[in-house]
Amino acid sequence: ASQKVAMSNLEQDKFINYQRIEDNLEIVRKRQVTFLFHHGVFFLCDSSVCILNRPLTLSEKVVYGHLDDAVNQDIVRGESYLKLRPDRVACQDATAQMALLQFMSAGLPSVAVPTTVHCDHLIQAQKSGVPDLARAIDLNKEVYDFLASASAKYNIGFWKPGSGIIHQIILENYAFPGGLMIGTDSHTPNAGGLGMVAIGVGGADAVDVMADIPWELKCPKVIGVNLTGQLNKWASAKDIILKVAGILTVKGGTGAIVEYTGAGVDTLSCTGMGTICNMGAEIGATTSMFPFNDRMGEYLRSTNRGDIAQYAEKFSHNLRADKGAEYDQMIEINLDTLEPHINGPFTPDLATPLSKFKETAIKNDWPTELKVGLIGSCTNSSYEDMARSASLVEQANKHGLKLKSKYTVTPGSEQVRATIERDGIMDTLTNAGGVVLANACGPCIGQWDRQDIKKGEKNSIITSYNRNFTGRNDANPATHAFVASPEIVTALSIAGDLTFNPLTDSLTGADGKPFKLDPPTGDALPQKGYDAGENTYQAPPADRSQVSVAVSPTSNRLQLLKPFEKWNGKDIEGIPILIKVKGKCTTDHISMAGPWLKYRGHLDNISNNMLIGAINIVNGEANKIKNVFTGEFAGVPDTARDYKARGVKWVVVGDENYGEGSSREHAALEPRYLNGAAIIVKSFARIHETNLKKQGMLPLTFANPSDYDLIDPTDKVDVVGLTDFQPGKPLTLRLHKEDGKTQDITLNHTFNEGQIAWFKAGSALNLMREKTA
Ligand code: F3S
Repeated sequence: ASQKVAMSNLEQDKFINYQRIEDNLEIVRKRQVTFLFHHGVFFLCDSSVCILNRPLTLSEKVVYGHLDDAVNQDIVRGESYLKLRPDRVACQDATAQMALLQFMSAGLPSVAVPTTVHCDHLIQAQKSGVPDLARAIDLNKEVYDFLASASAKYNIGFWKPGSGIIHQIILENYAFPGGLMIGTDSHTPNAGGLGMVAIGVGGADAVDVMADIPWELKCPKVIGVNLTGQLNKWASAKDIILKVAGILTVKGGTGAIVEYTGAGVDTLSCTGMGTICNMGAEIGATTSMFPFNDRMGEYLRSTNRGDIAQYAEKFSHNLRADKGAEYDQMIEINLDTLEPHINGPFTPDLATPLSKFKETAIKNDWPTELKVGLIGSCTNSSYEDMARSASLVEQANKHGLKLKSKYTVTPGSEQVRATIERDGIMDTLTNAGGVVLANACGPCIGQWDRQDIKKGEKNSIITSYNRNFTGRNDANPATHAFVASPEIVTALSIAGDLTFNPLTDSLTGADGKPFKLDPPTGDALPQKGYDAGENTYQAPPADRSQVSVAVSPTSNRLQLLKPFEKWNGKDIEGIPILIKVKGKCTTDHISMAGPWLKYRGHLDNISNNMLIGAINIVNGEANKIKNVFTGEFAGVPDTARDYKARGVKWVVVGDENYGEGSSREHAALEPRYLNGAAIIVKSFARIHETNLKKQGMLPLTFANPSDYDLIDPTDKVDVVGLTDFQPGKPLTLRLHKEDGKTQDITLNHTFNEGQIAWFKAGSALNLMREKTA
């Protein structure tokens, strides 16, 4: 397997290391027994999961192939913490600011593994691509200059604003079969469409890898999704993940890698597989991936990476699951009978087949007039998506119809934009009334200056994006956002009606005659090859010694970090509950995006959004909590600041899957910065739980989830057991009731030894600094 093939055309001196996978797998396959350290004791594991001379799944091969120490690593799915050596790191601009600020404070000269930064989150959709981009460059100059100069300084590839969305650029330039990548964005798994294990993490994890520290991941379980048959004409790759989301729900993939298998896989395009993996983030999966196949080879060749395709072909025995590999759960999907789906509103796992959608919408009183259809984003902006959407618009055009709803198109990259422009697809869409936005996240992350409705007005939109939490797109909690394939979004936008079913319903042409849309068609890859468009990449300079990185002390966008204080060696005693949160609390509730994105590099300023979206169980309201010292109701950040000023720590109490959604570590940094000590919930989303640990917070879960009900928001609490904090050993939450009574509740945690060291040092970064000092 040893051959010198560059990882990317942009990094000719960094090579794919298939030999390491080969070597590591040989080692782990030979292991007969494993010593495990579990619940504080060593024991001999001879169960079949430990002994790896058994058939391995694809993701196991790639993950174990990247072990730091294959000889001594204990490997039990769902149990062990693996120490891994990722091939690369990717950061988007909203998270890169904090990641780079943290990396700078570690005091190292350059990143240890190939890393890229992508400017995609800070561009607000207002008019259309060109003016919106110009405005963003002006508004965000300070941040872009910081990212560009820090990238140049630390040997990081920098993708300028306008280049496109991180996950598309990665797919086009950096992803390769069998690679392991981490990215500071929850949709990093998109690269699983090219057979990569690509995992979304917080900035602090990225800093570890950039600093050459092995990266830790709880050994994932593996969920198999077996695809048989072939998609019918209206169904698309998106419908596979919409269906899977409906089956597994927003929590169902937690702690697992979703691996697709079966003959149906070969019927999907590479970018279609990317869509499926991208939206796997919505079921909480660690990542999703596909086995290497010819469709990936075709995509690699069409993006000028024939050498990688050839290399992967030679190595393909390790780029697919072994026969007989065992999965923790298996889901069967027959593509022959898979219908298009529409998911939502307000949650991506509320899946409704198209044939049932009209009655469901009417029953639930969802607004049926479709105000806006939005296609593109990192999830669905491939050439194929655009071509198939345009094929529907062309049909409407032939009958004298335009798009009835407002309609926006977000190309995922400059390459896609330039190619669809060259091939006339863009003209088709804009002539029908579509507006092409910048190659950026835009409305997907709330960067949308929406003017067509007033805030609070109930309305429906439909997107081909991945996420549709309340208020995510336009900050209007009354907007019902639905998610579907770009083709369905387009068909519904032509009709202007959310309940239109293109399979059964007719439209009325300009001549008054009814007609039906034929199923969409379009090439998976451009016949004339891709047009790269404008060059928007800044390679790190050969001589980096003269590059300086400036952060102004008076900036309101960037702020150098000060280390958090160490643990004081004592249990926590008698502190208030800042808020007892009711129901869903995603990272959007904890650290809202949209207008707040501009403060992602300034911890003090962005902390003013802490938990402002979370619902207080006391009054059912957001951002209105009682200050236990003054007795007055005020905003959550203001109250936390008041407690901090008094030197008082506090806890948050929450419900299930707390912190689901994005990888943004601000959701962990803000509570830490404003003096939070612990977040106590029924269950956590994986990335957020790790992020909290990294910042020196205590993410804790009720051993008995119904104990959530025992907590009165007026209780004072102790967290007992920290002086003997050990892996697997529960802690105790002591409630001090207003009437003077006390009550003890058992709290679980998932800290391992290394993570306990983060807690004691005050943060993972503190520990790193101690080690490198
Ligand atoms: Fe951007 Fe939305 Fe994707 S925020 S990275 S386009 S999920």
